[in-house]
Amino acid sequence: MEKIRVVLYGVGAIGSNIAKLLLTKEGVEIVGAIDADKNKIGKDLGELLGTGKRLGVIVSEDSGKVLSKACASVVIHATSSRLQDVYPQIAPLAKFGVNVISTCEELSYPYGSEPELAKKLEALGTKYAMTFLGTGINPGFLMDTLVIALTGVCQKINSIKVDRVMNAETRRVPFQKKVGAGLTASEFREKMKTKIISGHVGLEQSIGMIASALQWELDKIIVEPVEPVVAKQAVANEAIKVKKGEVAGLRQTAKGVMKRKPVIVLNFQAYIGAKEEYDAIAIDGVPPIHEKISPCVHGDYATAAIIVNSIPKVINAPPGLATMKDLPVISATVEDMRKYL
Ligand SMILES: NC(=O)c1ccc[n+]([C@@H]2O[C@H](COP(=O)([O-])OP(=O)(O)OC[C@H]3O[C@@H](n4cnc5c(N)ncnc54)[C@H](OP(=O)(O)O)[C@@H]3O)[C@@H](O)[C@H]2O)c1
Repeated sequence: MEKIRVVLYGVGAIGSNIAKLLLTKEGVEIVGAIDADKNKIGKDLGELLGTGKRLGVIVSEDSGKVLSKACASVVIHATSSRLQDVYPQIAPLAKFGVNVISTCEELSYPYGSEPELAKKLEALGTKYAMTFLGTGINPGFLMDTLVIALTGVCQKINSIKVDRVMNAETRRVPFQKKVGAGLTASEFREKMKTKIISGHVGLEQSIGMIASALQWELDKIIVEPVEPVVAKQAVANEAIKVKKGEVAGLRQTAKGVMKRKPVIVLNFQAYIGAKEEYDAIAIDGVPPIHEKISPCVHGDYATAAIIVNSIPKVINAPPGLATMKDLPVISATVEDMRKYL
């Protein structure tokens, strides 16, 4: 069987991690790379990734040209979070009959937030016999797919609470900036207003996916405003300095409300100096479930992994728009990737 041919669309921080992981795998090869960044266009992918050897894959800004030559089975897409931005990038890929797996948070469960675009993607997938999937660590796994899997052993569920607490000190500097670390409270609010800081994208989608799996008809989903977490003590290292009283990061909560009760509550926190990093899922039900992963799962490694590991499942999926709750359980692909097809 021929190797699985993959095109990368977006070779930023996450796209590069995905590419490096793919290069370690058997049974799969990167046959094209697309990016809009002028500093990347025209460069060999291997050089761009710093692997020290050329791969013969030149980064191009023209997705049509790349796809018409690539004979690819899958495009791995990692550019932006909002489906309104991403739709014009991924919709034209359908006609090449290539499957699209994207880190776009709003694509993970777009039926509530972008119902029209979800319908269009479903129709394109069906027409061209290909599948779209949005996934990642969160949304895509920790606050939705894993929760849904745990409900599988419940006879009854009253409510669900999920916490993800990350110590931003252990993360990339762009991530620390994204959560506002080192800003004053007023700078933070200004950046919120101008949308330079947007908080975590995906809480609404995760709640939508869980509710859909349980067939719960929610009255509404409330995504509360992003709040700054203020540093109780100064933190300084080579990468970042946060003085006492400055912003250390952010927190955000979203609630799925049914019959006027919050039945699904997701609580996301990412800030410098978090004493404990963890992912916790509490299901108030029969039996009650308290699952805690400590330290929390590292998002950069895990996102690259889940994207790569989903390749065989997406190739085998029915055409249309897939979500993580509909695909078979995704496992690690530690052997030749073709064995999982
Ligand atoms: N679901 C999850 O769990 C999860 C996890 C991690 C990341 N994500 C999301 O994945 C996305 C990518 O993350 P990242 O950290 O890799 O971002 P990044 O470092 O900014 O990389 C994105 C890359 O895509 C390029 N790009 C942007 N628009 C493009 C377009 N229209 N056509 C071609 N290339 C384009 C960017 O070029 P320019 O720099 O020139 O714009 C950049 O090189 C983000 O939205 C992030 O929030 C999701």
